Amino acid sequence: MSKSLGRRDFLKGAAAVAAGGAAAIPAVAAAWTQEAAPATPVLGPGPVPFTLRVNGKDHAVNLEPRATLLDALRGPLGLTGPKEVCDRGACGACAVLLDGVPASSCMVLALDAEGREITTVEGLAGPDGKPHPLQEAFVREDALQCGFCTPGMVTSCAGLLRRNPDPTAEEVRDALSGNLCRCGTYPRIVKACRSAAAAMKGGR
Ligand code: FES
Ligand code: FES
Repeated sequence: MSKSLGRRDFLKGAAAVAAGGAAAIPAVAAAWTQEAAPATPVLGPGPVPFTLRVNGKDHAVNLEPRATLLDALRGPLGLTGPKEVCDRGACGACAVLLDGVPASSCMVLALDAEGREITTVEGLAGPDGKPHPLQEAFVREDALQCGFCTPGMVTSCAGLLRRNPDPTAEEVRDALSGNLCRCGTYPRIVKACRSAAAAMKGGR
């Protein structure tokens, strides 16, 4: 139901149909059609200019409205940390932080990410290029084999540590439930996440 044709109006119309029979139907239909007209302009199908804020910088892009955030990051922005694996929200390899919260970038339209703070794994390192404690911990704990899931794992762990700086192993496993590792390095990933949490608490 459109926002402008409220529940009360609809019920009134339905009551009129019940009372007045078929003669009332065209009036109700006309009101519906008139009020249901889209209030916002239609964008696309061609490219649309807009801005994405990624890793602290604004980037002007020109993309079709159907482009996903993952398309934008790996394409014009050249950020290949987020990986395209399933392209349907099932593996977490494309995880980024949207306003600090992990999200599968293959499931977000780039246009819908305008005005949000987007952080990719590339943006986790410090301004001096020093790796994030999570990145150091993944290396220290040898928490990867082929490494394809790693950027998504690190990013999801970063989202977890923002809201829970001292997670239990169970909480790490729960936070990573949307991230798949075909190499089965889960125990080391959990260890790395908790090791990074300890390092961050100790100011390292
Ligand atoms: S590529 Fe996005 S969730 Fe798998
Ligand atoms: S390290 Fe290979 S998929 Fe995770």
